[in-house]
Amino acid sequence: MKFTALAAVLSICFAGTSLADEPNISAGKRMAEANCSNCHNIEPGGAFKLYPPSFQAIAIYMDPQVMRMKVMFPDHATLMPQFHTYMFAENIDNIVGYIQTLDE
Ligand code: HEC
Repeated sequence: MKFTALAAVLSICFAGTSLADEPNISAGKRMAEANCSNCHNIEPGGAFKLYPPSFQAIAIYMDPQVMRMKVMFPDHATLMPQFHTYMFAENIDNIVGYIQTLDE
């Protein structure tokens, strides 16, 4: 009985956590339009062999964890802005969530 109650409480906690971690795709798209579209093609159907790479290409060849890392810590000597100095991690997660929707 006790165990069932504990399991119920735990499942509620974890359900809450996973909801909070779910990226907000439409917010991510708006952030990408405002912050990334000057340089990247952020629309579906972006071609390969572009520089900088289109978001569709990135969605296909790059793991989401690596995407997040590249936005936080852009390669040395790149034009990529240092987003981590002014963008909340949650917004970066939303943008990465949006990029992942282009993987098709
Ligand atoms: C001022 C132009 C500029 C802006 C704005 C910009 N980027 Fe970039 N981005 C680049 C360039 C240039 C590269 C290529 C870096 C390199 O490999 O030299 C790049 C690379 C990347 C990569 C890594 C691709 C790879 O194959 O290594 C990711 C992921 C990325 N950008 C995401 C974003 C996101 C998300 C935003 C908006 C929050 C953004 N970029 C805004 C210019 C920009």
